[in-house]
Amino acid sequence: VLLISATTVLAYLLGSIPTAVWYGQGFFSIDIRQFGSGNAGATNTFRVLGKRAGTIVMLVDVLKGYTAAVLSTLLWHFGIITFNEVLTFKLVFGIVAVIGHLYPVFADFKGGKGVASLLGMILAIHPEMAAVCIGIFLLVVIASQYVSLGSMMAALAFPVLLLLRIFGEKESPLLIAFGFLIFVMVVLTHQKNIGRLLRGQESRTVLIRLRKK
Ligand code: G3P
Repeated sequence: VLLISATTVLAYLLGSIPTAVWYGQGFFSIDIRQFGSGNAGATNTFRVLGKRAGTIVMLVDVLKGYTAAVLSTLLWHFGIITFNEVLTFKLVFGIVAVIGHLYPVFADFKGGKGVASLLGMILAIHPEMAAVCIGIFLLVVIASQYVSLGSMMAALAFPVLLLLRIFGEKESPLLIAFGFLIFVMVVLTHQKNIGRLLRGQESRTVLIRLRKK
C-alpha cells in the first residue's frame, strides 16, 4: 500500500511538470499563460512560441502521461500488484498525472487541459486505439481548423469506438467506463473553448495560418 501510494504521488509530480510554462520562461522569458488562449499546453505553445517549441512541449507532455501509466507495469514486475491489476493502475496513475498537468504543484496549480498527457496514457494502454484517435484528431483539425474541437472529438471517439469493438476483440468494460470519464474531463477542461466555438471566436490553427502565407 505504501509503495502504491508513493507511486501515485510520483505520478502526480510527473504530471505536474509544467512543460509549457518552463519552456516559455526558460527560452523566451515569458509566462505562456499570459498569451494566446492562456493555456499552458502544447497547442498554445505552438500558437505563441512556434513549431519547435510546440513540438517539444507536446512530446514531453505525452511522455508524462505515458510514463505515469507505465509505472503500473513496473509495480507488476516487482510483484507489488497482480497482472489483472495492471490496467486499473495504468488508468489510476495516468489520470493522476493528468490531474497534475491540470493543477501543477510547480506552477501555482494553473496548468493545461491534459490532452497530450491523456494521449500518452492511452498510448500506454491501447496503442492501436490511440493511433485511431490521433487520426480522428488530425482529420477534425484539418477540416475544421480548430484544435480544441479535434481534442474533444478524439476524446469522444475513444470510448465510442471501444464500445463498437472496432478491433474485433472484447474491450475491457473498465477501460470503456474510464474512456467516458476522460471525455467528460476533456469537455470540462474545454469549457472556454466550447464557448468561443459557439460564438465563432475560437482561434484557427497554426497549420492554416502557415498555409495562408
Ligand atoms: O489541447 C488543448 C487544445 O485542445 C486547446 O488548446 O490553447 O486552443 O485552448 P487552446
